[in-house]
Amino acid sequence: MSHQSELIAGNIEQYLHEHENKDLLRFITCGSVDDGKSTLIGRLLHDSKMIYEDQLAAITQASKTSGTTGDTVDLALLVDGLQSEREQGITIDVAYRFFSTDKRKFIIADTPGHEQYTRNMATGASTASLAIILIDARYGVQTQTRRHSFIADLLGIQHFIVAVNKMDLVDYSEARFNEIKAEYQHLAEKLNVPDIQFVPMSALNGDNVVNQSEHMPWYKGTTLIQQLETVEITHDQNLRDLRFPVQYVNRPNRDFRGYSGTLAAGILKPGQVVRALPSGKTSKVTRLVTFDGDLDSAYPGQGITITLEDEIDLSRGDWLVAEDSQVPLVTRFEADIVWMNDTALEPNKLYDLKLATREMAGKVSVIDYQIDVNTLEHRHAEHLDLNTIARCQVELTAPIPIDDYRTSPGTGSFIIIDRFTNLTVGAGMVHRPMESELPYEFREHDSKANVVWNRASVTPELRARIKGHKGKCVWFTGLSGAGKSSLANALEVELNRRGYHTMLLDGDNLRHGLCKDLGMTEEDRGENIRRIGEVARLFAEAGIIVITAFISPFRKDRETARALFEEGSFIEVYVDTPLDVCEQRDPKGLYQKAREGKIKDFTGINSPYETPKKAEMTCNTAELEQSDIINKLLKII
Ligand code: ADX
Repeated sequence: MSHQSELIAGNIEQYLHEHENKDLLRFITCGSVDDGKSTLIGRLLHDSKMIYEDQLAAITQASKTSGTTGDTVDLALLVDGLQSEREQGITIDVAYRFFSTDKRKFIIADTPGHEQYTRNMATGASTASLAIILIDARYGVQTQTRRHSFIADLLGIQHFIVAVNKMDLVDYSEARFNEIKAEYQHLAEKLNVPDIQFVPMSALNGDNVVNQSEHMPWYKGTTLIQQLETVEITHDQNLRDLRFPVQYVNRPNRDFRGYSGTLAAGILKPGQVVRALPSGKTSKVTRLVTFDGDLDSAYPGQGITITLEDEIDLSRGDWLVAEDSQVPLVTRFEADIVWMNDTALEPNKLYDLKLATREMAGKVSVIDYQIDVNTLEHRHAEHLDLNTIARCQVELTAPIPIDDYRTSPGTGSFIIIDRFTNLTVGAGMVHRPMESELPYEFREHDSKANVVWNRASVTPELRARIKGHKGKCVWFTGLSGAGKSSLANALEVELNRRGYHTMLLDGDNLRHGLCKDLGMTEEDRGENIRRIGEVARLFAEAGIIVITAFISPFRKDRETARALFEEGSFIEVYVDTPLDVCEQRDPKGLYQKAREGKIKDFTGINSPYETPKKAEMTCNTAELEQSDIINKLLKII
């Protein structure tokens, strides 16, 4: 390679050392061959002397026979030659080209510009720090300029260079350049990209690519290569929010236990207190181990093995974050998805999702809208075809920590894998977490003891499989004497007859044992219902249909019990028999005693009953036959 440096001949060791320690800029070129993209890449490779001598000789020869540039060397032939080679190997999505200058090393992600290559462009853009948006000076901002800018912006690229190419064909006109600049700035108002630079150039003639143009003295800015060499990218990284997704637990022997992975964001130092997610347990970092010895600090992108002071619940896929950071645990989030497969994305179909180092099942539950990549308009979509981009709602089978892609791309993005073909079929960027109902074990707990959650291998689903049905809770509420116990009893008889596994929890009965320490004050009733709710949940987890009959007069206590169950597994039945009927029945003579002032806090007399607002069923035993009520209920269950 004709790379020029005195050191190559003089001190090759030093040359290699300097080369190794140069920093690296990854960028993507957006545009089509018509915009001069191949010529530009050829120019960069040529002028930075990254073309083999024999290649150069070959294209000089080819330019004479099949070039389009007259006497000058057609540099596009170089890139297009590689292109056709590439087209034979259909598996390559993006062509990566490498070159370097004295100041930096560069990797160009070169992707085709047409709409049918949107997925390739998204792939190339996903690792790039900068995008060169090529515009043909004759035509200005085109549909594809919009599309490329939108995709590069969606993928979170923070630096754009708008290269207004073919200035030679518009007489190097400053006015034309300013016109295109204004046009693009108008478009950029819809984008998030914070840094946009404009360069007028001619890739063909080499104006302002590597060498300053003599034809455009009015342009006082730097050349394209100078911008590529100096653009500041270290600040693009999130050094603030510590994120370490565990790749694997490294346990070579009994004396060592480390957590290996790549630091996704933040700075990590020994002595720092970290929190594990989703367990929430904290510990202190003791060492940052690498192959080349321990580190004093680690930065994003670095591969490390962390050791901790305590053995905490931490496994592959879990994250370590700063002790005080507020990362939501969610099962639902909004994301922008780029669909990359010939088979369309179907809402509610189960896929495997890989988020940072965690793999789990999930689905797109709703397509909010598809984005027209050319006009940026939103439209309705039933499914997502190849190369479409859409804002979607994603649902996971278990809660995990999640980040906004724009704050932490490494922990805010995911790929979608087809469960049968094992192919990557889509990629997503998290937009925002959505409120999710967390399963019991993931909720904040206020246990007075220092406890962790021990996972059981036999899950509620596995228990339910043997029972032939899932566990549920049918919760009767209403005044004393309303008929709760009778209904609950009759319901259990019917379910039992049909072969269901059931359990009945009755107010009076439970107060003989589990709740015998509780009286009838509002506080004691609250505790009573809390205990019953927890017990009912345990029965439901065992795969049993649990039926409860408690006055449970306070709405908040019933809501607390409901919240312990999955949606649809808690059926509240309000036994709405009027007070006067209950009082007339007075099966235990308690209403009379209450009226006589012998019982205080008696529900309906001198203690309130708060009627349910969203009971799954309401029934009045004074108006309906018991068998009719039970039949109705059986249908609901
Ligand atoms: S709850 O309010 O905490 O849900 P629970 O259903 O357990 O009450 O117990 C209600 C039963 O306790 C009634 O059916 C009744 O037999 C008896 N009882 C005793 N004192 C009272 C009272 N002050 N108010 C209501 N029920 C009472």
